[in-house]
Amino acid sequence: MIASASTTPVHAMPPAPVPWSASVLTLFPQMFPGPLGQSLAGRALDAGTWRLDTQDIRAAATDRHRTVDDTPFGGGPGMVMRADIVHAAIAAAYDLPAEAEPPATPARPLLFLSPRGRALTQARVRALAQGPGVVLLCGRYEGIDQRVIDLWRAEEVSVGDYVLSGGEPAALVLLDACVRLLPGVMGAEGSAIEESFSAGLLEYPHFTRPAEWRGRAVPEVLLSGNHARIAAWRRAEAERITREQRPDLWAAHAAATARA
Ligand code: ADE
Repeated sequence: MIASASTTPVHAMPPAPVPWSASVLTLFPQMFPGPLGQSLAGRALDAGTWRLDTQDIRAAATDRHRTVDDTPFGGGPGMVMRADIVHAAIAAAYDLPAEAEPPATPARPLLFLSPRGRALTQARVRALAQGPGVVLLCGRYEGIDQRVIDLWRAEEVSVGDYVLSGGEPAALVLLDACVRLLPGVMGAEGSAIEESFSAGLLEYPHFTRPAEWRGRAVPEVLLSGNHARIAAWRRAEAERITREQRPDLWAAHAAATARA
């Protein structure tokens, strides 16, 4: 209430929490927030639970034509984004001058979205969501001059073993996965889903009314009202689906269960 707030001396008030912040460096800032402006992430963005800013890498270009790329040394197809331009864009995201040295340990990690990166996992997503935010570097063309990736010790992250036309859709995927874990974004129901993935198993199947549809009945156990039987059925289904669809996850789950 306003009355009680006004009785608290300003110096005694806790500092306002800084929301989880994402900065995206891209040649296509119009791609953001894109789907993240809708649904859970969009509402959380409007509510100030997280912040998103996009930096147009082209704004760091210095010539009349706003050039950001050049042909690769050694020949070959495509164009490579220039180290000096990308460096200036990254420095700006960290509020540093264009020629600055990278900070030893930046508060927000710099992630470079690339099919060459380590595969993004739920464990990495959880760690990123618990931190202050991320700075995401999206590449286009054939790639980015390796020297700027090395200088900033950027963490290369892939969202799957396929090649996208650029890092932007991958950045949207990474942000979606992080934002849904921020406190207050999902209800209790979402946290339960998160726990089920944490256990290393895929989700069991879901059903709702009507109980019969096109001659297909809902599994009888789900109508039984017997919570122990329902839990056992769901567990068995989660195990079966994980075994059938993702033998790799199933092997990891089995190994973890054996250790416990
Ligand atoms: N850029 C192009 N393909 C990608 C992928 N699979 N993951 C991350 N960034 C990418």
